[in-house]
Amino acid sequence: MHHPSPDVVTAWLAALESRHLADLRVPEVTRALRALSSAYVERRHTVARGATLDSRGKRAAFALFYAPLHLYVTRHIVESLGAGEPPPSSVLDLGCGTGTAGAAWALAAGGVPVSGIDRHPWAVDEARWTYARLGLSGHARTGDVARWGQSDGSDPALLRPGSAIVSAYVLNELPDDARARVEDGLFAAAERGIAILVIEPIARPLTPWWDGTVRRFAAIGGRADEWRFSPELPKLLKLFDKAAGLNHQALTARSLYCRNH
Ligand SMILES: C[S@@+](CC[C@H](N)C(=O)[O-])C[C@H]1O[C@@H](n2cnc3c(N)ncnc32)[C@H](O)[C@@H]1O
Repeated sequence: MHHPSPDVVTAWLAALESRHLADLRVPEVTRALRALSSAYVERRHTVARGATLDSRGKRAAFALFYAPLHLYVTRHIVESLGAGEPPPSSVLDLGCGTGTAGAAWALAAGGVPVSGIDRHPWAVDEARWTYARLGLSGHARTGDVARWGQSDGSDPALLRPGSAIVSAYVLNELPDDARARVEDGLFAAAERGIAILVIEPIARPLTPWWDGTVRRFAAIGGRADEWRFSPELPKLLKLFDKAAGLNHQALTARSLYCRNH
């Protein structure tokens, strides 16, 4: 397994801090982080409407706090599953946000190209920045992942057998019909020899569909796992975690992984 130089990630985190704390103060970001975390937990339909990224504070809180956590979680899962070896030819990140899940897999695979799709233009700009800062060849564009099967299925460069698709913390944000379309697209891709990794929170109320999806992928060799680990978080993340009254000393997630080649 290739291990990305910790320096790349450390330098990215430092750049992230200057980028988002240039004109926002820590207490403002902390307030926004509290609002964001309760929106994720309580839903209140805000997530589906895209309202989680509707203010500068929430965008900064997402980029500075959740996005790095998603990098650590994805890296842990990819390494534990051995999903970086042999390296996929490229990684497509559906609902990439600021790009960290796809970037984590691309780095663990030795720096393969990564591309991201997200409906939010801010996220797309951030993903481009993330890829560049992490030294990855990457591109990101706006798009609706629920239309992915139609609009991107024609791009053979991204969907070659031997490539990979990750979707992290996205399926639970989609309405049922859209999620079903994305799931169909992932299933078809898995059958064509594309590695699939889906990451979601463990909280069952957020993912009532999980067991059915797992059964479907298990039939073609997929595996489901639950993860719990305690990485040494960087100082800024610890500070936000404490200040916002959260508790991320242990990180947890569930994953669905399918690699048929
Ligand atoms: C919780 S964030 C996760 C982002 C990223 N995958 C990560 O792990 O940090 C969910 C992302 O999904 C995006 N999203 C939600 N519905 C989408 C859709 N229909 N098409 C594209 N992106 C979508 C949101 O804009 C947001 O960036």
